[in-house]
Amino acid sequence: MCGIVGAVAGRDVVAILLEGLKRLEYRGYDSAGVAIQNAEGVLDRMRVTGKVRDLESCLTGRPFVGHLGIAHTRWATHGRPADCNAHPHTSHDTVAVVHNGIIENHEALRIRLEDLGYDFTSDTDTEVIAHLVHHHRLQQPSLWHAVRIAVSELVGAYAIGVVSTTDPGRLVAARLGSPLVVGIGVDEQFIASDVTALLSVTRHFVFLEDGDVAELTQTGVTIHDAAGQIVGRPIKKSEVSADAINLGDFVHYMQKEIHEQSTAIADTLEGRLSGHRILEEAFGPLARGVFDETRCIQIVACGTSYHAGLVARYWFEAIAGIPCTVEVASEFRYRRPVVSPGTLVVCISQSGETADTLAALQETKRLGYAHSLAICNVPESSIVREAELTLMTRAGPEIGVASTKAFTCQLVALLLLVIAIGRRHGLGLVREAEIVAELAALPVLIEKVLRLEGAIRVLAKQLLDKHHALFLGRGTQYPVAMEGALKLKEISYIHAEAYPAGELKHGPLALIDAQMPVVALAPDNELLEKLRSNLQEVRARGGQFFLFADTAANFQDAPDMRVVRMPSVGSTTAPVVYTVPLQLLAYHTAAIKGTNVDQPRNLAKSVTVE
Ligand code: F6R
Repeated sequence: MCGIVGAVAGRDVVAILLEGLKRLEYRGYDSAGVAIQNAEGVLDRMRVTGKVRDLESCLTGRPFVGHLGIAHTRWATHGRPADCNAHPHTSHDTVAVVHNGIIENHEALRIRLEDLGYDFTSDTDTEVIAHLVHHHRLQQPSLWHAVRIAVSELVGAYAIGVVSTTDPGRLVAARLGSPLVVGIGVDEQFIASDVTALLSVTRHFVFLEDGDVAELTQTGVTIHDAAGQIVGRPIKKSEVSADAINLGDFVHYMQKEIHEQSTAIADTLEGRLSGHRILEEAFGPLARGVFDETRCIQIVACGTSYHAGLVARYWFEAIAGIPCTVEVASEFRYRRPVVSPGTLVVCISQSGETADTLAALQETKRLGYAHSLAICNVPESSIVREAELTLMTRAGPEIGVASTKAFTCQLVALLLLVIAIGRRHGLGLVREAEIVAELAALPVLIEKVLRLEGAIRVLAKQLLDKHHALFLGRGTQYPVAMEGALKLKEISYIHAEAYPAGELKHGPLALIDAQMPVVALAPDNELLEKLRSNLQEVRARGGQFFLFADTAANFQDAPDMRVVRMPSVGSTTAPVVYTVPLQLLAYHTAAIKGTNVDQPRNLAKSVTVE
């Protein structure tokens, strides 16, 4: 779960590599490194524990120039964050490798290579690749041949970039199970873990497929597929603009992305609604047949995307009238689920590269599930390519590690799916029109909630010295509370848990005291009175409340209760709207605390390892 970038050009590539790494830091940021082949044909390498800016500082004022190079930003899997474990890894100062993924048979390969006389200087699984390529290059006519044989011996997942002093001006790249794109420039070629890394140098990309091995020179790219045949993969023009990944006037990407939600939702709805109805065509030409056959739904996802699935479960059963189960992908993939006929598997993923979700999707195919659909934010991602149907969220690039706009767009996309399926199970035109009206109103409502930011920032100050927090909701607000708790813990490092408010008296009430802030969600719906009683149970025991409540619910500020008055919202789309203040609360708590909001410790944006 690292980021890799590589370049071969007629100009110095160091600045291109560093810029690419900065764009990829969301994938990992515990160490970084770069290797280039310099004018004398010698490999020059620099690695540091820390961020790309630390690497950049180390290079300042040092002669470090080359027309061919590879670079890496790391999220440690094998071996702690340390200079010696940072990539690129080299063999005999000849071969250098950057790698994203996990080599499962690295121990066996290490023993074999040690027997052949290779010395290891790191604890990583990647170093075996460098030595393996070096070993094969001794017998093979080119670096490309050596890499091809080396990757055939690897078990696991990899996206790699390899250079060797034996093959000046050549960069070899290969992928299996980890993402890798080739950027096509004018007399210069690049590789990277995703397109955003290369937008400053090209808009034209080839998406390598599993098993591909590509050779890049200044003038072109040759791709061989898994069978060793030369293949022409299509060149696609990226629609992502370089502006979309600039911070603008915001302090952090997370804040920017929270504020982009009304536009992102409007974009996700665009062309998918017509009058009072949703357009089923949005799901592609095969959708009609698939939906006709669908009898139940199995959702698989991780983290925030899993929370979107939990909200959707309420919708599928209450609105569409069909059974729905939701499971975290890392559990689902190793369970032996009973496959019900007519089950549509719905995978939800911002990145489309989450290893557990992808593997769960592949497992459902093996198990004979009827159909699959991906809700995803990255069009060329592995999950999109693997699923039978797709519905893209149009949140735009999400850089902050904590997912925000992708989540609310996932909810919107899921609601479109609920309607499409519900039509086959008794959802009438009137109800559909009501939900469509609620969807269309979301962008304006979210703008209104964003205007509460100042009041929420004041609340955030009161959380600063707390070590724990409880989040409460009922119905669809329970998964929203779970998402709020996840946001708070991942970026502010305050421990937070969510409970369905009715469950408190079965145990968690014992935790309540003045040091345990309770964040509760109170839209004006059929559960409001029940929630009111649950809140009384907490107040009677000295709990301190932060309440996000519908203005009409008429809660009043009190010494033990801070109320943020929310606009009136439709009962179906309330989970989308009530997510936003919790994102702001987590964001401001972390920002005031001074944590690294966009790159919280120990995490990475795209979890491409198990
Ligand atoms: C939390 C967060 C993660 C992701 C999870 C799945 O803020 O972002 O929990 O939601 O790693 O990622 P995707 O959606 O890319 O599959």
